[in-house]
Amino acid sequence: MDYSLQNHASYIGRPIAELPTPSLLLSKPVLERNTTALLEDVKKLGISFRPHVKTMKCTEVTRMMLGDGLHRKIVASTLCEIRGALDLVREGKLDEVRTFAIHWYRKQVLRKSTQCLYGLPVFPGALQHLHDLSQSLKIQLMIDNEQQVDVLEAYLEKASSKPAPWSVFVKIDVGSRRAGLATESPSLPKLIERIESSSAATIHGFYCHAGHSYATRTEEAATAVLQEEVEGVVKAAKFLIDARPDRRIVVSVGSTPTAHVVSRLKATLPEGMELELHAGCYPSNDLQQVATSLVTPNQQAIRILADVCSVYPERNEALINAGTVALSKEASEFPGYGIVIDRPQWCVVRMSQEHGILGWAESEQTTRLMQHTGSKSGTGEKIEDSFRVGDKVLLYVQHACITSAQHFVYYVVDEHDVVRETWVPWKGW
Ligand SMILES: Cc1ncc(COP(=O)(O)O)c(C=O)c1O
Repeated sequence: MDYSLQNHASYIGRPIAELPTPSLLLSKPVLERNTTALLEDVKKLGISFRPHVKTMKCTEVTRMMLGDGLHRKIVASTLCEIRGALDLVREGKLDEVRTFAIHWYRKQVLRKSTQCLYGLPVFPGALQHLHDLSQSLKIQLMIDNEQQVDVLEAYLEKASSKPAPWSVFVKIDVGSRRAGLATESPSLPKLIERIESSSAATIHGFYCHAGHSYATRTEEAATAVLQEEVEGVVKAAKFLIDARPDRRIVVSVGSTPTAHVVSRLKATLPEGMELELHAGCYPSNDLQQVATSLVTPNQQAIRILADVCSVYPERNEALINAGTVALSKEASEFPGYGIVIDRPQWCVVRMSQEHGILGWAESEQTTRLMQHTGSKSGTGEKIEDSFRVGDKVLLYVQHACITSAQHFVYYVVDEHDVVRETWVPWKGW
């Protein structure tokens, strides 16, 4: 029995209480507010913007992030996301064009101006797919190791038609210790030189992603990480610009916490550098973002709807039908794996695959949430006074990117929690 996969559109016009569970709800008004706010910040700063499409992995949210075609570049973390985004390349503003000749011409222009960065350091198995996709939109690659340049050269060598050099970003590690080279690494100038002397690649820019910004708890701290990001990519780009002052280079910075404070950015870039912001999670936000204190709980667009299946007064717990698959095991300083929105001191304290255990988890963070939601929970509530079998519970989630990847349809609701649209995300890798 899977109503959501077969019949999701039949719920349009119905209140969320009638939805099958577990279900993922997206508030369209909140998505719109969040995406508009960042577009305005970027516009005021006069910098370019490259949304990461990995959080909601769907056409509709990507379109909103791009300002309906105002911005023309994205970053993706899987080939599947790039394939999904091709809908937007096809769509463009083409619908309004009448004659075939103009249609064709504009399509070529759109193809040339649309850039998609494949955000993982490139590896041989992805290259043929990326080459195929490059027939539809301009693919850019992430490089942080000379061996990847060898791979590009070997591919070029074998290709029957001689493809143009790949446009690449050099990945800089500004403290997250995931991908990238630190600016102090002796390998960085060598890598830049290696790419510059290769006929298989050309440097488009320098890119960093400050994943460690998720640990910041104040605007000042997030702004300091943003400054570090800018300083990191500028320092790296100077290795190239100093040697070749004629070059124009993009320096790309961002993560959702640093994007939330981008309006505080004070940076004058050296000649020849253009600043680009990237971010992915900000349209929906989640408890991890609320934990940074840079957004409020009502800036979360994502919630999970679940049913109470059983209640256990002896251990003061209840069972809901949202477990690890529906929620994910992501954590933050908010307790548990999901928080009941109108009674935030109840949260999912343990899970198995499809079972979630609601338990009492009073803490400083949940008290903060209570103040926001206006909830009246006291201390030490009894489960049997709070939940009954068949009750619906609405949960905030810890990490929207991981939770949304588990769902096959998003129920898009208005401010009255009536389903207005259903969106189907891109699945796979
Ligand atoms: C390479 C890269 N760029 C940008 C982002 C977007 O970051 P956020 O989701 O914090 O906005 C991510 C997220 O993991 C990423 O991996």
